Amino acid sequence: MKVLPQLFENNRRWAADIVRADPAFFENLARQQAPEYLWIGCSDSRVPANAIVGLPPGELFVHRNVANLVIHTDMNCLSVVQFAVEVLKIEHVIVCGHYGCGGIRAAMENRSHGLIDNWLRHIRDIQRKRMDELTRIADEGGRLDRLCELNVVEQVANVGNMTAVQEAWQQGQPLTIHGWIYGISNGRLKDLGVCVSSAAELRMLEDG
Ligand code: CO
Repeated sequence: MKVLPQLFENNRRWAADIVRADPAFFENLARQQAPEYLWIGCSDSRVPANAIVGLPPGELFVHRNVANLVIHTDMNCLSVVQFAVEVLKIEHVIVCGHYGCGGIRAAMENRSHGLIDNWLRHIRDIQRKRMDELTRIADEGGRLDRLCELNVVEQVANVGNMTAVQEAWQQGQPLTIHGWIYGISNGRLKDLGVCVSSAAELRMLEDG
């Protein structure tokens, strides 16, 4: 029995459309990848990395997890960043959060969600650190959205502190980390203005 036939049909049409426009597209892509950007985003199905920034296959190296977290000991994320920076020589790392993030909403709730609470613990740490600012926001939705933004800022700093990134900067390799947020209700990206391109800029970001 053929499973999920609709998805295979979609795929057949998608590949055919691309080949019609550029017959050598997949052959060229199979030889090498040279993406310019690393995207670190949320797993949320409403935040499809390539589609949002209008980039075809081959132009975006992607890492996604729940709530776009960059954890100092996460071998998965560390490996992605190291490969992107050292091998692919990517010059732009984009940390992209999104408003209304379910992971962040879950972290703000005072109830158990099982195993994922261990992962969401990292967001609660940011919430505690930024408690003064967050409690000044009267409505719950506003607090959630602000924590979505603050989470991006924190993850930009975490990327900056990764050994692969620190070494790249020491060697004079151009590398910029950007902090963006995406609106799932309007499809628009917003630059949070926390871009860092050196160890000195990272210190400025961390000193707030
Ligand atoms: Co999310």
